[in-house]
Amino acid sequence: MISASILASDLSCLREEIARVSPYIDMIHLDVMDGVFVPNITFGLPLLKAVRKCTDLPIDSHLMIIEPDRYIDKFIDLGSSIITVHYETCPHLNRTINKIREKGASPYVAINPHTPVDMLKEIVYDVDGVLLMTVNPGFSGQKFIESSYDKIRSMKEMIQQRNPKAKIMVDGGIDKNNIKRVMHSGAEILVMGYGVFKTGDLATLRKEMEDAK
Ligand code: DX5
Ligand code: ZN
Repeated sequence: MISASILASDLSCLREEIARVSPYIDMIHLDVMDGVFVPNITFGLPLLKAVRKCTDLPIDSHLMIIEPDRYIDKFIDLGSSIITVHYETCPHLNRTINKIREKGASPYVAINPHTPVDMLKEIVYDVDGVLLMTVNPGFSGQKFIESSYDKIRSMKEMIQQRNPKAKIMVDGGIDKNNIKRVMHSGAEILVMGYGVFKTGDLATLRKEMEDAK
């Protein structure tokens, strides 16, 4: 599946941008950044509301914010079907994950490039998926970190042993050139900003993804 990160879209014509890419994607990815956990500020609830009006596609909200528990209810009420929180921002991760599920959304946990997959050994039982950051979070258009292929494979092994239904989402620097290798390593949901919004040929991108299945 492809989840398109609207951070890389032309936000001055968001409705048109979403309509343009919709035939080739499965979800919309909302990168919420607070300028504290990550060195950038993007957008939040008002933009989620606007996106919800523009499309019926599922929305996955990637919360790169400290104390995400304070906002989870609102993100779900406004229409996010997946909520991803960072391992690095949640001292009581099990509680946070349960809160997302009880409120009716699908809980995912994200880890930064330097955080070992082993840190997810216990929480992996409780989530619907994990998000492996394949760049340092903060910006669209960065280069994919090559050591991520091994990391995806290790994550896949852990998932197979502990929670085979959990999905691996990858985020950062993914495009038509590495899509196959990323999927063959074990990723099922590909978040793409530049790869979707700044690429000329969305049909080829989609085909690369389908062929790699
Ligand atoms: C980075 C964000 C990503 C980013 C992906 O912090 O979490 O979702 O927007 O953009 P690309 O695909 O351009 O790296
Ligand atoms: Zn993201």
